[in-house]
Formats: sequence, C-alpha cells, structure tokens
Amino acid sequence: MTETGTGSGTVTDTVADAFIEVDRVEKVFDVRRRTGFLKRERRQVRAVDALSFTVARGEMVGYIGPNGAGKSTTIKMLTGILTPSGGRLRVAGIDPARERTRLAHRIGVVFGQRTTLWWDLPLIDSYRLAHRMYRIPDARYREILDRLVELLDLGALLDVPVRQLSLGQRMRGDIAAALLHDPEVLYLDEPTIGLDVVSKARVREFLRGLRDERGTTVLLTTHDLQDIEQLCSRVMVIDHGRLMYDGPLAGLHEAGESERTLVLDLERELPPVDAPPPARVVRVEGPRQWLAFPASASAAPLVARLAAEYPLVDLSVREPDIEAVIARMYEERASA
Ligand SMILES: Nc1ncnc2c1ncn2[C@@H]1O[C@H](COP(=O)(O)OP(=O)(O)OP(=O)(O)O)[C@@H](O)[C@H]1O
Ligand SMILES: [Mg+2]
Repeated sequence: MTETGTGSGTVTDTVADAFIEVDRVEKVFDVRRRTGFLKRERRQVRAVDALSFTVARGEMVGYIGPNGAGKSTTIKMLTGILTPSGGRLRVAGIDPARERTRLAHRIGVVFGQRTTLWWDLPLIDSYRLAHRMYRIPDARYREILDRLVELLDLGALLDVPVRQLSLGQRMRGDIAAALLHDPEVLYLDEPTIGLDVVSKARVREFLRGLRDERGTTVLLTTHDLQDIEQLCSRVMVIDHGRLMYDGPLAGLHEAGESERTLVLDLERELPPVDAPPPARVVRVEGPRQWLAFPASASAAPLVARLAAEYPLVDLSVREPDIEAVIARMYEERASA
C-alpha cells in the first residue's frame, strides 16, 4: 500500500477510496497473572493477528465475532486509544496512534458498554462540552444538534441528568454525542446491547438514515446479527484476532454447509424424537422441538416419518439463519 501525497493536496496512487486501511495489524497484550505468593506468570495474548482489510468511504460494514475475538481491540486501535504492536493502520490518511487528536475531529465512537456522557449532568451539558472541545462553529453546532435531537427524539431528554436516562435513551444520547462534530467515520461498538426491541429498531432506523443521507463510513460491531442483517451489506467475521470472512452477508449463508430447522409442535411434552441422522434434535421446549437437518436435503421424508410416529399438532421449516451459520463456523474452527 502506498502513502498519500503530502502538501500538494492531491492523493497519489492509493487504493481507490480506501478510507480505513488495516494492513497486517497485530496487537499483543502482556498479561501478568499471580500464580502464587510472589509468583507471577507473564503471558502474551495476541488479541489481533495479521489483520488486513480496507473500508471504502461511505461503506457500512458489520464487524462480528465471538467474545474475546479482538473486535474492541481493533476499534481502539482505529481510534488511536491503543497502539498496534505491528502492521500499518490509516484512517482518512491519518495514523491513529500518532495523531490521535487530529483524527478525533474526523471520527466518532460509541462504546455501547460504556457511556462517554457526563453521568451527573443534564444531557445537554455533555453536548455543550463537545461543542467547545471540538471547537464546532456555533451555527454549525446548532444546526447539527437540532437535527440529531429531532432524529433521535432527544427533545424531552436534554435537561435530564444522564444517570436518570433509560439504557435506550442513554444510547441515543451517546450516538448524538459521537456525531455532533459531524465525523466522516463512525465506529459503533455494540450500539444496541441491552436495548429493548423498540429502542433497537429506533437506533437502526437512525443508522440507516445516516448511511443513506450522510454517506458516513460506519464500522459496526455487534452480537445482534439482526443489526447486521438490517444495516450492512458487507460483513467481516473475526475470531482469535484473525479475519475469517469478509464479504456480502449472503455469502455467510453459503459458508460451510448450512442446515435448515424443522420445528415440531407435539401434542404433549415428549423426550427428544427419534430422527434419522444426520437430522437431530437440537432443542426441546415443552411440547416444541427443533430439529436440524442439511439444507440440501428435502424435508418431506423426514416430516412423513415423524408424522407417522409422533402426535404432531403443527410443524414448520425454517431456513438457515446467519446466527446458526456463524455459530457453526466457530465450531468448525474450534475443532479444526
Ligand atoms: N487491555 C488489555 N490487556 C490485556 N488483554 C486484553 C486487553 N484488552 C483486551 N485483551 C484481550 O484481548 C482479546 C480480545 O479482546 P477484545 O476486547 O478485543 O474482544 P472483543 O471481540 O471485543 O470481545 P467482546 O465480544 O467480548 O466484546 C481478549 O482475549 C482479551 O482478554
Ligand atoms: Mg468488545
């Protein structure tokens, strides 16, 4: 990857439109653990390992993976909070760790698990602080604040101390705080965590608007695959610090041999039904049982056989959902 031209104002020869560039990036943590009296063990955790990807301007990319995969570590490196142990990072042509403050004016970050708002102060005070901190021109600040207040429905909340806000209200407040300085890039680390269905829908709708109307580049980390399904056409899957998949969401369905699910409603609670392999019962809840079977196989013989042997009230077939496909990818990797 080549450097951008400096001084002349022209950009020479970069990857077309690559706005976020991650090139063989590593992050190794030194962890010291007490193993006994005066005894400590030093261990290294490779949280991110030879990670490479680029994100184009205006793209909204999902970034998913199991707990401890390295998602938050990646985002922290992209904001400059953490310095990579190796490799090369650029966001809007800026090296985040070296020019964190300059980059801060171009990016917004929301960490769903930790608020950036002032806990004891009314919401509006956090925004006023951001106004000054980012030196946003007054008229611009007004305009952006008004728009965010409207879109995120914050009007009635501005004078409420943050600690009194519900989780969903607080999250909307956090998202507005991250966008007041009109950043070109937004990192969202679990923006819907812990939210109820209505709040989730609201946040998603807002993000959709941001993507469609502002062309903001968004990297979205989440454990809720519906976030991805509804917002991102591209998804990156990370596990053990390594990129396992990068492509369209639809491709995840084909990754690995997918399974379909047959949902049986029995007349009464019964032990798991006896299904011909590879079909198998994966879940039992009262009189309802879930069976997984290969997506390539027809459901008809399986249904016929079960109907002959068990008191069925109802049944339905579900197509593979990405949650199941991803769980499978993880399983396969763990057992490889
Ligand atoms: N400051 C740190 N010091 C030591 N180890 C760390 C530190 N931060 C993260 N790690 C380790 O690095 C690995 C990746 O952590 P990270 O927080 O990036 O995962 P994640 O994908 O965000 O997980 P989650 O889904 O749980 O949020 C984990 O093994 C974690 O324990
Ligand atoms: Mg995390």
